[in-house]
Amino acid sequence: MILIKDRDDYFMQFSEKILNTPSSFIRNILKVTDAPDVISFAGGLPNPISFPTDALQKSINAAIEENGTKIFQYSTTDGYLSLRQYIADKYKKNYGYDVQPEDILITTGSQQALELIGKVLLNKGDGAIMEEPGYLGAIQAFTLAEPTFYSVTLENDGLNIEELEKALQNPNVKFIYTVPNFQNPTGLTYSKEKREQIYEVVKKYDVALIEDDPYGELRFEGEPLPYIGAGRLENSILLGSFSKTVTPGMRLGFLITKNKEIMQHIVTAKQATDLHTNIFSQYVIYDYLANNEYQEHVNKIITLYREQSNAMLDAIAKYFPSNIKYTKPEGGMFIWVTLPEGSSALQLFHKAMEEKVAFVPGDPFYTSKTNVNTFRLNYTNATPEVIEEGIKRLGKILHDEFE
Ligand SMILES: Cc1ncc(COP(=O)(O)O)c(C=O)c1O
Repeated sequence: MILIKDRDDYFMQFSEKILNTPSSFIRNILKVTDAPDVISFAGGLPNPISFPTDALQKSINAAIEENGTKIFQYSTTDGYLSLRQYIADKYKKNYGYDVQPEDILITTGSQQALELIGKVLLNKGDGAIMEEPGYLGAIQAFTLAEPTFYSVTLENDGLNIEELEKALQNPNVKFIYTVPNFQNPTGLTYSKEKREQIYEVVKKYDVALIEDDPYGELRFEGEPLPYIGAGRLENSILLGSFSKTVTPGMRLGFLITKNKEIMQHIVTAKQATDLHTNIFSQYVIYDYLANNEYQEHVNKIITLYREQSNAMLDAIAKYFPSNIKYTKPEGGMFIWVTLPEGSSALQLFHKAMEEKVAFVPGDPFYTSKTNVNTFRLNYTNATPEVIEEGIKRLGKILHDEFE
């Protein structure tokens, strides 16, 4: 107990886990890049024109009329049964994955699922295998549990298998975290062959495989691919979200696992965290899903993002010097750019801000590297014309720097 003698020498002692957890780099830089005259490719937000506002307004009224006071009351930790049934039916239909409502937990966005997984699986120092580069929100959520991160290079077709096998030799490893479809930050998708190889490797180990899939439905090129472990690995945890397809503000995501023990502990952790996910949002989204043509709505988002992605890829091909490498996403929201070896994306960021164009330098997507030569571009929040102008400005700086 700290005695407060007088206000001048009053201080708080914060936990090591919070002191060691980075605050969200993106949220911090968004404060700078959000100025109205900046063309920002920095955020990772869905385009607001994709929100089904009118239909949601009807669903809000219908959900209140149909459910009365229940919609404003405390509710169960697992989540609204009809919504979980809807999700179970969808996974059965789309993936042939035999999911029951009891295998599903509705979470406060998939971000909460990440934090709960960290709480339930990681003791201080335990191993978490991460994609490099990887989703910074996952790095942040897991860091709170003070793990040892083992990074495995994310190649164009998925995790590097030799590195994965080597990382799995560490006896403290508890899980592998993957984003197999249109990954954040790279936009990359694991190939079918790589998925199979990863499955063959992982099934030999007593570790959980997390497949975080908030973007999977937003495919604008190529064929949908099967999950790596969902439906066939005993310790599979699949995460989904309504953030990118309906609205992120309602904070609705879900965790699917057929492993009863994992589920039971995650439910306990969720009780301790927030008792249950916002039940008002759950009733509203269920009404929306049950009474609208969801797939038609998603198809509209796909068409929009395809057009924006193409606009950015065309502009990059036109304006960037040829020694700059970049990914070509088949869906989702991001393109990942690699500068020549030894250069700093952070330095480029400052120059780009002088020209009023923004992106996210790669640093926060790595667990142990800094001053990296990579950066993330988001294309979902600007018109094709604005995308072209922003990439043209960036291209000019790149020509000056790297040619
Ligand atoms: C890979 C990944 N996982 C999880 C999330 C969190 O999404 P939400 O909590 O809105 O479902 C995001 C958000 O950008 C993401 O990119």
